[in-house]
Amino acid sequence: MANERRLLRVLDGERLSPPPVWMMRQAGRYLPEYRATRAKAGSFLDLCYAPELATEVTLQPIRRFGFDAAILFSDILVIPHALGQKVWFVEGEGPRLEPIDLSRQELQPDRLLERLAPVIETVSRVRSELPKETALLGFCGAPWTLITYMVAGRGTPDQMPARRAALADPSGVDRLVDVLVDASIDYLSAQLAAGADAVQIFDTWAGALDDTGFWRFVIEPTKRIVAGVRARVPNARVIGFPKGAGGHLPAYVRETGVNAVGIDWQASLDFVRDSVQPQTAVQGNIDPLHLVVGGGALDAAVDRVLDRLGEGRLIFNLGHGITPDGSIDNVARMLARVRGGR
Ligand code: CP3
Repeated sequence: MANERRLLRVLDGERLSPPPVWMMRQAGRYLPEYRATRAKAGSFLDLCYAPELATEVTLQPIRRFGFDAAILFSDILVIPHALGQKVWFVEGEGPRLEPIDLSRQELQPDRLLERLAPVIETVSRVRSELPKETALLGFCGAPWTLITYMVAGRGTPDQMPARRAALADPSGVDRLVDVLVDASIDYLSAQLAAGADAVQIFDTWAGALDDTGFWRFVIEPTKRIVAGVRARVPNARVIGFPKGAGGHLPAYVRETGVNAVGIDWQASLDFVRDSVQPQTAVQGNIDPLHLVVGGGALDAAVDRVLDRLGEGRLIFNLGHGITPDGSIDNVARMLARVRGGR
């Protein structure tokens, strides 16, 4: 019998029309109901570690829009936090961390799953409350993207501190990658065991590396995570999102063996159709700004993705997360058009 969760059918190799659809950052500040729950939680990290509230915000966009997938509400920085690094969020600015000293790396991998237990509890609560046709996605940050924050202590426009470390002390970065690969395998396997149907590995800053760095710090660690998770959870479904990977996409897909790859909005759709989609399902790639601007430009962008990628395996999504100024009406407009309103 065909899987009732349409998104999983695409991950398992089918082409579906209309394609399943969800949105990165679909639970977030553009939703008034998210802002209300967020205000109750206290700090952003408190929200990530409060199973009842995190379950509520995970379900909000499903109730409102009926997406084909829910994504666990948490953050990629809970891994460094659970490894013992100091992490906090400054309102209106973003994450802050006490920068890690690569030569000393005083992390505590032994307590990872104990500290992440509330997030795993959120996964099982969400699964028990989701409609049966809605897939549940777990996730983690890829080692390289985590390292950009762990080394710089904050988000940076060009990931300069981590790129510099990767050139000056590549074996120090390798040691940190090793810790993060093991942590990611434990964490993703626990999410799958708790009821996640698939997991996504967010490598937001993959595009910042040169060719050598991309192989060493993006492809190799991701390959080890995918293999490690599948050794624990046979046939585990994994979506990779190496943002900015461009011409590296075919190698990334071939080497890592992901079931789908996320495509950012800068990618050439002809290239993706001809050189990536024959190997794996693709997920993307509307520019999130279209959800701010809307109108005919949004319609045209939706049509273009469907025309270029709709003949192959496609999961409709954005090319990155929706921004706080994205409009609810534009999300509804996009969904209606994807689902057949052309
Ligand atoms: O997609 C979802 O709905 C699930 C939840 C989710 C969040 N962050 C919630 C969040 C996911 C999958 C993430 C991933 C994440 N977090 C990434 C990778 C993907 C990406 O967007 O690039 C990264 C780099 C982070 C780190 C992070 N978290 C940053 C840089 C920020 C600040 C920027 C911002 O948008 O404020 C966050 C905070 C964050 N994570 C918010 C949400 C809803 C906003 C904080 C708030 O509500 O106060």
